[in-house]
Amino acid sequence: MRRVAVVEAENGQVVVAIEAFGGLDVEFTRSRCASEEDVVRAVRDADVVVAGPVEISRLAMAGMRPGSTVIMYGAGYDKVDLVAARSLGVRVATIPDYGVETVADHAAALLLGLLRKIHPYDRLVRERGWVGADLVGQIASFGETTVGLVGTGRIGTALARRLVPFGFTVLAVDPYAVEDDLAHAGLERVAFADLLARSDAVSLHAPLTSETRHLLDRDAFRLMRPGTVIVNTSRGALIDEVALVEALRDGRVGGAGLDVFAEEPLSVSSPLREFEQVILTPHAGYYSTGSVAKLQKIAGEQVRRALTGEHLRNAIAE
Ligand SMILES: NC(=O)c1ccc[n+]([C@@H]2O[C@H](COP(=O)([O-])OP(=O)(O)OC[C@H]3O[C@@H](n4cnc5c(N)ncnc54)[C@H](O)[C@@H]3O)[C@@H](O)[C@H]2O)c1
Repeated sequence: MRRVAVVEAENGQVVVAIEAFGGLDVEFTRSRCASEEDVVRAVRDADVVVAGPVEISRLAMAGMRPGSTVIMYGAGYDKVDLVAARSLGVRVATIPDYGVETVADHAAALLLGLLRKIHPYDRLVRERGWVGADLVGQIASFGETTVGLVGTGRIGTALARRLVPFGFTVLAVDPYAVEDDLAHAGLERVAFADLLARSDAVSLHAPLTSETRHLLDRDAFRLMRPGTVIVNTSRGALIDEVALVEALRDGRVGGAGLDVFAEEPLSVSSPLREFEQVILTPHAGYYSTGSVAKLQKIAGEQVRRALTGEHLRNAIAE
C-alpha cells in the first residue's frame, strides 16, 4: 500500500481534498512536527509528502521511498532542500496559483491603509474622541505617490493591476522579467537603488532565495526616503528585521504592513509588536474562502498525479 504523509507545523492548517485520489489504495497520515526529528519520523517510507510550512531536509527525504514526491502546500519552496531532492531523485512541486489575487488584495489593503494612515486615525478617534485630520502628519494623494514593486511575477503583477488605476506611479525591479511584460503592465523598470530612492512605498513580491535574503538591509533602508512605507507579503527573511526596527525608530521607514516574518509564529517579544505604525497580520495573505478551497483541491490533485505518475503541476525538481 502506498503512503501519503501530511506534515505540518504545530499551528498548521493543511487540508488535502482526498476525493481527488479516493479510488486509490493509500494509507493517509497527518503529523504536526516541531523538529526535524518529527519530520523524519513522519515521512519515513512515504510515497508522497504534503508539507505545510515545515523544513523538508535531506535527512527527511533520504527516508522516503524511492521515486517519492514532496508537494509543498503553497507557493513557497524555501523550506525544502532542492539540491538534496535532486540528488536523491525526489520530485518536488509547489501550488503557486491558488491565491494570487487574494495575496494581491491583501498587499493592496495593507498599502492603501498605511498610505491613508487609517490605523493611526482609528486609534486616535478611539483614544481621544475626535482629532484634526492633520494630526497624523502629511498624506500624499495616490496620484502623487510612487510605489516600488520588487518582483513582478504572478502576485507583483496582480498588485500592479490594482494600483495603476488608482493613479500611482509604479516602479519595478525584477531581474528575470521581460521588458515588454513590464511596459504592458504599466510599470517602469528601474535599478534596485533607484527604486529605493524614488519610492514612497515598497512592496516585496520576490521569492526567498540566497539572492533575496535580507534584500532590505541597513544599506537598503539608508537609500530610502524618510517615511517610506514597506509592505511584505512574500517571505519574512527578505527583510533584515533588526535593520527594519532601526529604520522604524529613526523614521526612515514611516510604516510597515507585514504579513510574513523571519520566524513564524512571530515571537511574543518581537520589537515589531511595539510600533503603532506597523500593521501585523499572521501570514494570512493567501486566505479567502475561494483561495483556500482551491488550495485544498489542487493539493488533492497533486497527490493523485504523484501516485499515478502523471505530470506534476509546477514541478521544481524532477
Ligand atoms: N503571504 C502569503 O500568504 C503568500 C501566499 C503566496 C505566496 N507568497 C509569497 O509570494 C512570493 C511571490 O509569489 P508569486 O506567485 O508572485 O511568485 P512568482 O514566481 O510568480 O514571482 C516571483 C517574481 O520574483 C522575481 N524575482 C526573483 N528574484 C528576484 C530578485 N532578486 N529581485 C526582484 N525580483 C526577483 C521573479 O523573476 C518573479 O518574477 C512567493 O515566493 C511566496 O513566498 C506569500
